[in-house]
Amino acid sequence: HKVVLAYSGGLDTSNIVPWLIENYGCEVICFTADIGQGGEFNQMEEKALASGASQFVLRDLKAEFAESYLYPLIHSGAVYEGKYLLGTALARPLIAAHQVAVAQELGADALAHGGTGKGNDQVRFELTYMALDPTLTVISPWREWDIRTRADALAYARAHNIPVPATAGEKRVYSRDRNLWHYAHEGGPLEEAWDAPDEEMYLLSASPENALDKAAYVTLDFNNGNPTAVDGEALSPLEMIQRLNSLGAMHGIGRADLVESRLVGLKSHGVYETPAGTILTAAHRELESLVLDKDTLHFKAGAALKYAELIYNGLWFSPLRESLDAFFDSTQTPVSGTIRLKLYKGNIIPVGRKSPNSLYRDEYATFGLDDVYDQQESQGFTNVFGLHLKVRALNRLTPGGK
Ligand code: ARG
Ligand code: SIN
Repeated sequence: HKVVLAYSGGLDTSNIVPWLIENYGCEVICFTADIGQGGEFNQMEEKALASGASQFVLRDLKAEFAESYLYPLIHSGAVYEGKYLLGTALARPLIAAHQVAVAQELGADALAHGGTGKGNDQVRFELTYMALDPTLTVISPWREWDIRTRADALAYARAHNIPVPATAGEKRVYSRDRNLWHYAHEGGPLEEAWDAPDEEMYLLSASPENALDKAAYVTLDFNNGNPTAVDGEALSPLEMIQRLNSLGAMHGIGRADLVESRLVGLKSHGVYETPAGTILTAAHRELESLVLDKDTLHFKAGAALKYAELIYNGLWFSPLRESLDAFFDSTQTPVSGTIRLKLYKGNIIPVGRKSPNSLYRDEYATFGLDDVYDQQESQGFTNVFGLHLKVRALNRLTPGGK
């Protein structure tokens, strides 16, 4: 075999390299996607090669992530279980798709990933492989090896000359995942759902207490559902997310703590920091409430639940996700305009909205005098709208329907 491994440079994926060589006698190519996780890619390359990889391939996917995954998510308004903005779930199909492409380009015949047998990621990687190139063999070391604990992993790394940070203790540590959209924390101390996370767990956003004391006001322009400018300055999707991440983080925006339902049937306790995502979804929602008619808005909210579930469950490359995107795209035609937000100690407060497509007209909505809405017409409307309630009440008063 010649295997392309989705490589992060962390302890587990580093162990996979010698493990594959020992157990499959194969050549291992480490593939790393730059999706905004930060870190030193030069050091990662050195580490991959020192671990036994024949080659290290790096691709910068940040712009594609922003444009082709995160902006569609904003259009949809999807949030998993009311809180999770799907940062890890969206990154997996992107990484896996490029992993497949790299395998095809380099003539590899197998793919490997570091998802555990208990998690969502294994499914997301493998469904993407299946959707894009089912001829490739899939190797999932976590389902085969006997490394179970962090102590096992450290021992395995030391025995195979994998560089382990001097500070790496045997204590329970968080399992983290970072990219352009979010910082995710799971495991370690979070496994106790009753304990409040230590402030030191958070790596991106200020706590409300430490957030700036002065509120920020920010103006966001949208064009067909796409965020295009901050305070009048045009930004690419990538720049937009980077800009709002730093602004939001200073104001304590975007923390979410939840017990979530994994695809594999178990619950897990996780904390996410998603500053830009939280700001952009909030602003987009404000604008849609201004420009979308009631039926579209309500139907879209239902479709977003399904969309979130598909993404969470690894079904990005599926016919329904593609069809839903076509639907969401067509709803975004009028979603152009400007939203003004106040950011203050973890809160996002809308303070202004305008759009050339606004369906809100103060001459109709006013509680004062108007000459466009005849309140007498509401008499007949209300009688007809409530007729079924009247029939039910009459049945109660005169049983038997007569
Ligand atoms: N539970 C989240 C998801 O399935 C995030 C997982 C993040 N990964 C991690 N190692 N903490 O999308
Ligand atoms: C893992 O178990 O590999 C990380 C968490 C997840 O995939 O849900």
